[in-house]
Amino acid sequence: MEIVSGAPGGDEQGADAGRGSPPRRLIVMGTGGNCVDILDVVLDLNALRPAPLYECVGWLDDEPARHGTTVAGLPVLGPLSAAADYADCVFVNGIGSVRTFMRKARIIAGAGVPDERFATLAHPLASVSRWARVGAGAVLFPHVAVHSGARVGRHVIVLATSVINHDVHVGDYTCITSGVCLSGGVQVGASCYLGTNACVVGGVTLGDGCIVGMGSVVRKDVPAGAVVAGNPARVIRMVDGTAP
Ligand SMILES: CC(C)(COP(=O)(O)OP(=O)(O)OC[C@H]1O[C@@H](n2cnc3c(N)ncnc32)[C@H](O)[C@@H]1OP(=O)(O)O)[C@@H](O)C(=O)NCCC(=O)NCCS
Repeated sequence: MEIVSGAPGGDEQGADAGRGSPPRRLIVMGTGGNCVDILDVVLDLNALRPAPLYECVGWLDDEPARHGTTVAGLPVLGPLSAAADYADCVFVNGIGSVRTFMRKARIIAGAGVPDERFATLAHPLASVSRWARVGAGAVLFPHVAVHSGARVGRHVIVLATSVINHDVHVGDYTCITSGVCLSGGVQVGASCYLGTNACVVGGVTLGDGCIVGMGSVVRKDVPAGAVVAGNPARVIRMVDGTAP
């Protein structure tokens, strides 16, 4: 895994910038707000370097009405399945709202792009421990902190100012929105959605596919597929509509 960040020392790719390496052509999957924010991450990374790391090529989106339009000045090139037409590009996915997060793994798989062609991005103002690992396709927004021993899974998105403390594990495809604080040793399953300013007490485990409501304080383990909210957080329903 290589993280592209603004950290001193940087990664191999960053070290090459300005020494004649052409920028990598990059496409963002999705056109929503988080996707445009990802474009900011990429442009801020470029701005730090003597030569750009990435050439932003455009967007892929499954909404036909968007095809042929532009978003933030870049063209919407076609549906996600068109990724195959861009063999020279790397990708990053921004799809995964509270309505769609549970489909994120299928959405990404449907594009048919292997993990090695996903960029892993950390905004220059994010801080990632030398002893942390961040998976393919993950994106860390400004002022995110990932501390020692933490593992952030594949295609995880972490929005601005969230803190992933030491030894936290975050499962693949999970979305961590802004201001979330995961205390030391918290285990977050795959395909979860953590609402704004949620806090999780150290050592707690969140099962796969759960939602943590905005502002919640989670003190106990959360079953897979549960929606929890409040302080202390309680199960209010199941994601799939079954009885808790
Ligand atoms: C948790 C959440 C998904 C629940 O949504 P929902 O299933 O539509 O739930 P409802 O709004 O019908 O609320 C059900 C009950 O839970 C309570 N509740 C919902 N969210 C809550 C929260 N974050 N904190 C405390 N209580 C909450 C409601 O007050 C309601 O209680 P009541 O039955 O006593 O009236 C949603 O409220 C939430 O927090 N989403 C995350 C939003 C977010 O962080 N977005 C980030 C965008 S970047």
